[in-house]
Amino acid sequence: MPANKVYVRTFGCQMNEYDSEKITDVLRDEQGWQITRQPEDADLIVFNTCSIRDKAQQKMRSDLGRLRALKDANPQLLIGVGGCVASQEGAALLDSAPFVDLVFGPQTLHRLPGMIAARRASGRAQVDVSFPEMEKFDHLPPPSKSGPCAYVSIIEGCSKYCSFCVVPYTRGEEASRRLDDVLTEIADLADQGVREVTLLGQNVNAYRGAMGTTLGPAGGASESGECADFALLLELVSEIPGIERIRYTTSHPREFTARLIEAHARLPKLALHVHLPVQSGSDRVLAAMKRGYTALEYKAIARRLRAVQPAISLASDFIVGFPGETEDDFQQTLQLVEELQFDASFSFVYSRRPGTPAADLADTTAPAVKLARLQRLQSSLDAIEARISREMIGQVHPVLVEGFSQRNPGELTGRCSNRRTVNFVADPALVGTFVDVRITQALKHTLRGEPVVDTLGRLAA
Ligand code: SAH
Ligand code: F3S
Repeated sequence: MPANKVYVRTFGCQMNEYDSEKITDVLRDEQGWQITRQPEDADLIVFNTCSIRDKAQQKMRSDLGRLRALKDANPQLLIGVGGCVASQEGAALLDSAPFVDLVFGPQTLHRLPGMIAARRASGRAQVDVSFPEMEKFDHLPPPSKSGPCAYVSIIEGCSKYCSFCVVPYTRGEEASRRLDDVLTEIADLADQGVREVTLLGQNVNAYRGAMGTTLGPAGGASESGECADFALLLELVSEIPGIERIRYTTSHPREFTARLIEAHARLPKLALHVHLPVQSGSDRVLAAMKRGYTALEYKAIARRLRAVQPAISLASDFIVGFPGETEDDFQQTLQLVEELQFDASFSFVYSRRPGTPAADLADTTAPAVKLARLQRLQSSLDAIEARISREMIGQVHPVLVEGFSQRNPGELTGRCSNRRTVNFVADPALVGTFVDVRITQALKHTLRGEPVVDTLGRLAA
């Protein structure tokens, strides 16, 4: 019998990208599924959904609706909906989309093979959006990787409950993976040629991973009860042979400890790039958002980070038009941006999410005003990003070569420590290695460069 084919479409964040990879891993490992890029060829179509903002959710809804025609043409086709919309709606999703066969959440994706079997045997839709903490990681096959960069989830969920955000409800409370599980997975990836690892979580610096088992008095294994914090995790990851660069995303200002700042001073493998969402520059708005810090506290973190790593690029997330945000509040956000000179950041218009505390706040700012604020903020952020890119021209940066440029397969592509993409012409054998590249040109979203060669014409890298 020919292998079943699965088509996975991912909406939303890097966490979802990661989960999508795990979905295909578990289907391949347990039931021999193959991946297809053509939904028309698929026996199973999975939408891994996002509910962070209304727009993402609406887009997913309308694309999902279009699958009905495929299903009408091929009644054997299975349709699965995973991720945050599935988690939030559960079985109710079937009321609005009765052609869906499988509804699963971020914490139950490993149960998909069983759900498919049950669906086929019973002919009934299967729903499982429970939160069996960490069970997932015990059931996923070991990661397999062909490129030099990999993501590793270290902490799932979020317990911060910012007043605007759905994540704590869709992904559950913070739960850290065991320290030795994380380290083994990364060592495994390094053996497969991975050189750069991105530690993933909604709040990676909330990490508290249980540390190994110790031999109890009777010789039996028992938990030592100790936990590793994020700074210790970074230190141990940087000792893994083969891992040359470490990134993490996202971190939260509330747990950006002195130990973490000190790790940036001490660990040369830590990328010179930190994504630290601030959301707003106004203390009034930050309090209403329940972010748990003031603008001054945020600035202190930035100052201390830059004191230990002056070249560090600090990226952020912003929400404009939060209920009650005044022009004055917004000015304080613009001021913070100018003061801290944020690099490549994300900004969004506030999106009301039913079920979150902020959804009950009076929101009287006109949509046009919010949009205008977004544009002002984005042009300010873009100008800074462009300036930082321009200043890189002439400098030499170590670039981890990830593969061939999408636009021009004759060129190699990779990223600098500050995450900018650099395209350049060089020997394809360099894919998977670090190359010193002199930056020659700054374009809107990418840089161009040339590999540095020594006087004998050899690559200096
Ligand atoms: N863990 C991250 C946030 C993850 S969500 C943190 O530390 O803040 C990614 C980004 O989406 C957030 O930083 C925020 O800027 C944006 N976001 C979340 N909920 C939103 C909403 N209801 N409306 C608009 N933007 C939102
Ligand atoms: Fe959301 Fe705030 Fe957590 S933005 S993911 S509740 S830190």
